[in-house]
Amino acid sequence: MHPAHDTVPDGNELPRLAERVLTASLARGERRGVRFDYTRPSPTKYPWQWYWDSCFAAIAWRRFDTERPRRELETLLAVMRDDGFIGHVVFWDRPISLRRLIYYNVSSRGAQMTGTIQPPLLAWAWRIGVGDPRDEPRIATHHRWLADNRDLEGDGLLWLVQPDESGLDSSPKFDPVWGHRSHANWGFPLLVASNRRLGWDARRIRDRGRPVLCEVMTNVLWGLARLANGEPSLTGALIDRLWDERRGLFLDEVQPGGARPAISTWAALSPLALPDLPEEIGRRLIEEHLLDPARYWLPVPPSSVSAQEPSFEPNRGPGWKLRYWRGPTWVNAAWMLWLGLVRLGYHEQARTMASKLEATVLREGLREYYDPYTGEGLAAFDFAWTALILEMSDPDLEAARTSYL
Ligand code: GLC
Repeated sequence: MHPAHDTVPDGNELPRLAERVLTASLARGERRGVRFDYTRPSPTKYPWQWYWDSCFAAIAWRRFDTERPRRELETLLAVMRDDGFIGHVVFWDRPISLRRLIYYNVSSRGAQMTGTIQPPLLAWAWRIGVGDPRDEPRIATHHRWLADNRDLEGDGLLWLVQPDESGLDSSPKFDPVWGHRSHANWGFPLLVASNRRLGWDARRIRDRGRPVLCEVMTNVLWGLARLANGEPSLTGALIDRLWDERRGLFLDEVQPGGARPAISTWAALSPLALPDLPEEIGRRLIEEHLLDPARYWLPVPPSSVSAQEPSFEPNRGPGWKLRYWRGPTWVNAAWMLWLGLVRLGYHEQARTMASKLEATVLREGLREYYDPYTGEGLAAFDFAWTALILEMSDPDLEAARTSYL
């Protein structure tokens, strides 16, 4: 049956579809006396709790159940270590399979969560879905862990020890950084094994001469989380360190060595989601890159990589496994860039992006990502954060203009 048309069409197909997928993705129970209640990113493909998926799910949930965002995010806080660390994946109701052990950043098969992080947007999601994060002291503890352990240069920006910490696992921008050990490559388990030995400690890893990365999009979400929590903006530091004036893009920095791989992916445009991004920078990101039909403004925009990049891989045809974040369109990325379009007054383009995605999701269902040319739904089914389509199709424009802050 068509994903959205199992009832008489009345214009509410999209919210109904989203609510059905979110509801069917819930996982509830208890592990060693701790209650959990979260949304699986995709019930069959991703059964555990992923940090940033949960934050996006909490945001989407607020439209259907005002209590759910709190339960979702409190489940993340429930697993937080006393020092404030929260892992990238939390294994609530079943251990990982032996096959996955070599790809997952766990110290042992019995570990409750990974030793790596994911983009720390919890406080921003809390602000959007629950209320003032300053009323929840565990969030300040979490922020303290991030600052103490990952702000390696003292300017507030966080550094990553692995590509998957960014959530953008196999993005081609990581190829020059980790080479054959990048997520897209055969050597990734070697990176996992080596960082496991170093306890995923960013300073130790850097001091051994191994790469650590100041990644743009992670720091955008961290910046939003800090603003949501009443902490000073990071936008100035992000510009000082990562803005490339000549190319008009934000580019990551690698240490040791200071390399700045110049690969154009949507992450290079993601500072558009920051409410205090200087307007002239935002306009350059939009006009020189996002709206260029040869780069990102494909039939179902935005592609996750500029179509001009040699590594751009929009689809590979039946039988081929696509690597993550190398071309297709993802809805959370679209939403972050859409925030910039709305804030800077590109209303027609914001509407165009929303309506193309809306038609795609209605036709294909909530998939993990979509072919940027045909809109074909790809990879996981019933993918929870794709419910963020509602932020664009039924927007609160007033709130969107300030990134809901
Ligand atoms: C893939 C994505 C990552 C996401 C995870 C669970 O690994 O690249 O961003 O968190 O799936 O949905």
